[in-house]
Amino acid sequence: PTILVFDQDGTEHKLSAQTGDALMEPLRDAGLVQATCGGAASCGTCHVYLRDGWRANTGEYTEDEGYMLEGLEELVEVNDKSRLACQINLTDSLDGITLDIAPQI
Ligand code: FES
Repeated sequence: PTILVFDQDGTEHKLSAQTGDALMEPLRDAGLVQATCGGAASCGTCHVYLRDGWRANTGEYTEDEGYMLEGLEELVEVNDKSRLACQINLTDSLDGITLDIAPQI
């Protein structure tokens, strides 16, 4: 799937990824998120805001993700578009998913 990413400067990045990868992986490989915990939902550095209704297509938070996002609320805006990119597995139906990188913590 192709991923459209807007970084903190608003610069657009078009990335391509493999089905089955975590959404975090192409973002990390492009240097757009740190992903310090390696995808364990415990660092919060892969926080993104999904645009254009994509949030509804990515399912529910995982349990660990819910806790992490609660913790992040003290540091950055967490809203109904928020997800941890490491907790989303890419499928063909997510082709074109569009997101903003959340402020780094
Ligand atoms: Fe650490 Fe997603 S990579 S929370």
